[in-house]
Amino acid sequence: MTEPFSGQEAVELYGNRFLTEDAPAAEFPDAGMPALDAMRLVDEELALEGDPNRNLATFVTTWMEPEAQRLIAANLYRNFIDHAEYPISAEIEQRCIRMLADLYHAPGETTGARTQGSSEAIMLGALSLKWRWKQRREAESKPVDKPNLVFGGDVHVVWEKFCRYFDVEPRIVPLQKDKYVIGPEDVEPHVDENTIGVAAVLGTTFTGHADDIVGINQLLLEIKGKRGLDVPMHVDAASGGFVWPFLYPDSAWDFRLEQVRSINVSGHKFGLVYPGIGWLVFRQKEDLADDLVFYENYLGKTDATFTLNFSTGSAMVLAQYYNFVRLGRNGYAYIMKAMESNARALAEQLKGDGYFELIGDEEEQLPLVAFKLAEERGYDEFDVSWQLSAERGWMLPAYTMPPDAEDVKVMRALVKETLSRAQVDRLSADIRQACATLDEKGGAHEVERHKMKMTPGY
Ligand SMILES: Cc1ncc(COP(=O)(O)O)c(C=O)c1O
Repeated sequence: MTEPFSGQEAVELYGNRFLTEDAPAAEFPDAGMPALDAMRLVDEELALEGDPNRNLATFVTTWMEPEAQRLIAANLYRNFIDHAEYPISAEIEQRCIRMLADLYHAPGETTGARTQGSSEAIMLGALSLKWRWKQRREAESKPVDKPNLVFGGDVHVVWEKFCRYFDVEPRIVPLQKDKYVIGPEDVEPHVDENTIGVAAVLGTTFTGHADDIVGINQLLLEIKGKRGLDVPMHVDAASGGFVWPFLYPDSAWDFRLEQVRSINVSGHKFGLVYPGIGWLVFRQKEDLADDLVFYENYLGKTDATFTLNFSTGSAMVLAQYYNFVRLGRNGYAYIMKAMESNARALAEQLKGDGYFELIGDEEEQLPLVAFKLAEERGYDEFDVSWQLSAERGWMLPAYTMPPDAEDVKVMRALVKETLSRAQVDRLSADIRQACATLDEKGGAHEVERHKMKMTPGY
């Protein structure tokens, strides 16, 4: 009998040689491996990643219907930018933009773009703000070397990234303890003739609330009337853009407000599509600066492009369109209300247990629960997050708020479509149990605390 696990013949017969070897990681491999082995190697590598069903941190979609999955799988090869080859995909993008413009009450015909996510949409929207400001200033023969952008400390990091990458001064309104969004009184002192725009958030990453967009719009109208400065507003509706129209349809935050000139939304968050798809929609065509549109004919047809990337997949555009026609307004409203109802159930249970107080649960909010410990204990929110993860594998983030509210620690549970009421009940029981453990043993050990991740998005 031959030795077990020896010789090329055994490897060929039984496969899986990677199980006893390190996975190729540093050098480009000289030789390949059978397709089945390669597939299994990658599968095995991924097996220990987080479980999306227990991840209450991410806003991003982790489940789509089998029909949508089929559509995505069948269209992975389609290069979205190749409009000559795939004109229907391009038309479907335009349909999605028109539908979003309709949802956001655009006054007439407009334009926009599909993007990789809200980050790319924000870069493009903010670039357009910068270019439009530059054009206005140049027309008046005024200097264009000191552009600034006003936003609150409650924004996503992408806004600071934009300012650094594209040389714009960020004018960041600090948050305060118990005030985690901004309003007109915060914005007013920062606006001057070099302000390219104000960015307001609909559904913050930190607590899921909205800036006072109506109030900021009113302020900008007053500034226009009194000082002759036409300062546009961009609404970062990365999460809120698919929530507010369905949960709070009478709440004006979109193109119903005159100074709102552009909006971004992540299709891959509450648009309910897998990553990465985002959207940028302008109020009207003139809000997109012409200089940012490039014309090329590399692919056999002259096309206007307004993107940071060139080649990219079409599958998520098609999946977004699938959701729009599959769900319609009624379907989205049904899903948003279901998530909200489960979020409220979780909130009530957490409040009832006495350990926590909720943050802004009476206000318009994304379907999530933001909470913190109601009183001083021998442990903090990071310990609860750590203990919950150790006991039951839930990923429920704890983080500190941005300056000047950095002393406030918050926990946040996203209640998504896949979190059923039964799971909500289990989750709240598990949180209660984690707190009971901490009551007995105290907070995490110093060594454990060094391992904790402390940002809102992990
Ligand atoms: C308010 C806000 N803006 C922008 C972003 C970035 O979005 P994306 O991940 O789609 O690039 C996020 C992501 O969480 C967000 O919450």
